[in-house]
Amino acid sequence: MKNYFESLIKTRQSCRDFNDKEVEKETLERIAELAMLAPSACNSQPWKMYLVSGEKAKDVIPALQERGHNPFLEKAKAFIVVTEKDATLKTFVSSKFHSNHFVKYDIGQLLAYITLGAESIGVKSCIIGWINQEELRKAVGYPQEEVSNVVVALGYSDCEIRDKKRKEKEEVVTIVE
Ligand SMILES: Cc1cc2nc3c(=O)[nH]c(=O)nc-3n(C[C@H](O)[C@H](O)[C@H](O)COP(=O)(O)O)c2cc1C
Repeated sequence: MKNYFESLIKTRQSCRDFNDKEVEKETLERIAELAMLAPSACNSQPWKMYLVSGEKAKDVIPALQERGHNPFLEKAKAFIVVTEKDATLKTFVSSKFHSNHFVKYDIGQLLAYITLGAESIGVKSCIIGWINQEELRKAVGYPQEEVSNVVVALGYSDCEIRDKKRKEKEEVVTIVE
């Protein structure tokens, strides 16, 4: 029998066909609260999450559809707009690494927590990296010192779980002896 985490990982997939059910504000907050538990270098948490749902979600969609991409987002019901800025690291760490050195990894952790946290409560997600920064900033209102490179689109779906397409194990895993 598969453990819970394994089945969660296997069920999470990028959803590009949301149904009409709205995502409640409380549900979005719950997902964000779970994601706040993500690890980060020196526990710096160099992120902010802007929760957008209801009518306001419609303002965010065009900023993620430049050049006609991501048409499926018309049906997305909510967004977590993730912004980042340079991290405040512990002194001995910052003597070796620039303050932005780990930020991308930290944001990756946050995304995993958002998408798996959402999946754990039945909310489907798709990470979006195709962003028009200035349009998104205008729609959400985050300050100049923050930048958003990833947004998570959220909603509910009746889609089947697809088989995962991944590289062959031999290509990505090497056993060192
Ligand atoms: C940083 C990042 C940016 C992504 N940007 C987009 C995007 O703009 N549009 C989209 O449809 N999917 C986007 N994806 C989803 C990937 O295409 C998807 O995760 C990958 O194909 C694996 O499929 P799965 O998520 O269903 O397992 C993005 C994923 C990541 C991690």
